[in-house]
Amino acid sequence: MGRVFVAGSINMDVVATADRHPKVGETVAGNAVNYFPGGKGANQAVASAKLGAPTTLIGRLGRDAFGQQLRTFLAAQAVDLAHVKDTAEAHTGMAIITVADADNTIVVVPGANALVSSEDVTAVALAKGDVAVSQFEIPQATIVAFFRRARAAGATTILNPAPAIPFGKDLLDLVDILILNETELGLLTHMELRDSDDPARFVAAASALQGGSRIICITLGKRGVLALIDGQASVIAGRAVKAVDTTGAGDCFVGALASQLANGTAIRRALEYANAAASICVQRMGAAPSMPTAAEVAALLST
Ligand code: RIB
Ligand code: NA
Repeated sequence: MGRVFVAGSINMDVVATADRHPKVGETVAGNAVNYFPGGKGANQAVASAKLGAPTTLIGRLGRDAFGQQLRTFLAAQAVDLAHVKDTAEAHTGMAIITVADADNTIVVVPGANALVSSEDVTAVALAKGDVAVSQFEIPQATIVAFFRRARAAGATTILNPAPAIPFGKDLLDLVDILILNETELGLLTHMELRDSDDPARFVAAASALQGGSRIICITLGKRGVLALIDGQASVIAGRAVKAVDTTGAGDCFVGALASQLANGTAIRRALEYANAAASICVQRMGAAPSMPTAAEVAALLST
């Protein structure tokens, strides 16, 4: 069985819930505030670890109370933290989130996440059969170094280019599986895309990102996932659930997929599994704390 290595962000999410989102310049009264562990890297690592893959997170925390709380939380989720460093130069990453009507807005302040370096990621020993995962809340040069190392070791690379930031061919060429939503796909391909668009439009847009045997997965919220495998498009339908907080659902999908690929599951089956996992995640508040267990996903898939 392979391992999952996630190089990415670790944030404390400060989450205010309200009946609706404020407009620019407006103040609305909130209903509650919660501190939830988050950050795309940490969320993906928690999903992967809870779903049974040996999972190592590579990242940085500040030397502050949030950093300590996040370390304690992540350790309790069985995420290997041997490559999570404390740094005196910056505060722990923080996300200021508002949730209303199950939808969110997020402002991320990277802090220590911006200091995750090429040296941090090249200190990690990957092997054939492992899965290397990253996202865009750490520097892109670090991800390039990480994926070069992963490729050299024979590991599979998964990039989740979120939040949407343009990136070059040097990085794309190192990606085996690209997982992105319609906003990210639109930005990268200079197309105006909505999740309600016809799948053919997504396929057309994604063709610009294809190359070699790269797999592209477009996550479409409640519509499910559109996967391009060997040039063939297939849709994995979303599951009808009552969402309360979609924060981290994309991360759940990515982490779940990585965990299944590491244990040798074939790609189509792994996609179904990740789709089911994400449908559980959206029914709970918070990002990392909302990741499902393997038993929960198995129960859902058997119904
Ligand atoms: O993808 C969700 C995550 O984005 C949140 O946990 C928040 O920390 C931001 O990084
Ligand atoms: Na959630």
